[in-house]
Amino acid sequence: MLVSGAGTNLQALLDASADPSYGARVVAVGADRDGIEGLARADRAGVPTFTKKVKDFTSREHWDRAMADTVANFEPDLLVLAGFMKLVGDEFHQRFGGRIVNTHPALSPAFPGMHGPAEALEYGVKVTGCTLFVVDEGVDTGPIVAQAPVVVEDDDTVEALHDRIKVAERTMLVDTVGRMAREGFSITGRKVVLGR
Ligand code: GAR
Repeated sequence: MLVSGAGTNLQALLDASADPSYGARVVAVGADRDGIEGLARADRAGVPTFTKKVKDFTSREHWDRAMADTVANFEPDLLVLAGFMKLVGDEFHQRFGGRIVNTHPALSPAFPGMHGPAEALEYGVKVTGCTLFVVDEGVDTGPIVAQAPVVVEDDDTVEALHDRIKVAERTMLVDTVGRMAREGFSITGRKVVLGR
C-alpha cells in the first residue's frame, strides 16, 4: 500500500486482514514523506515500511523507478493507493498496470484531483461519495471498481463532509479489496467485473 497521511484507510485494511478469511494481507506500506500516522500504523501492525521523498532524487523519473523497484521487492498481487498524494509514473504503469487501485473522495468522473470534498461542496451537489478505481495514466480517470454515495448536508463543512466520505470509503475499500483478492477481477475497456 502507498500512503501520504493519516492512513485511516490503511488501518481499515490492516484490521480486516487480521482475520485470515479476509483473503488478503498488507505486505508493505510505502510513503513519499516521513513522520506520518500512516507509517506509524503500519509499524504498530508489524508491517514493513519504506519512505522515498521526491526531493531526494535527481528527477521525478528516478523517484518513480526507486519507488517501483521497492514495491516490486515485496511482490504484491495488488497495489493499493489510499491517500497517496503523488501520481505514479511510467515505471509503475509498466510493471503493475491493471493491478493498481486508488481510492478517491468523490463520485468519479466528478471532482478529480486533490480537493474532491471541497469542490463537491462548492459546486453544490446534493450527493457525493467515494470511488475505487484502477489507476491509469490520467488523474483519477481509470476504470471504476466500486463507488459509494454520501449525502451532502445543508450545513456541511469540507471537513465534516470528508469525514463522512471517509467512513463510506473505508467500508468500500475493505469490501472491494477483499473481493478482488478472494474472487479475482477482470477489466474490459472501462468495465471492471469482480469474480472469475
Ligand atoms: C482519503 O479520503 C482519500 O480518498 C483521499 O485522501 C484521504 C486519505 O485518508 N485521497 C485523495 O484525495 C487523493 N486524490 P487516510 O490517509 O485517512 O486514508
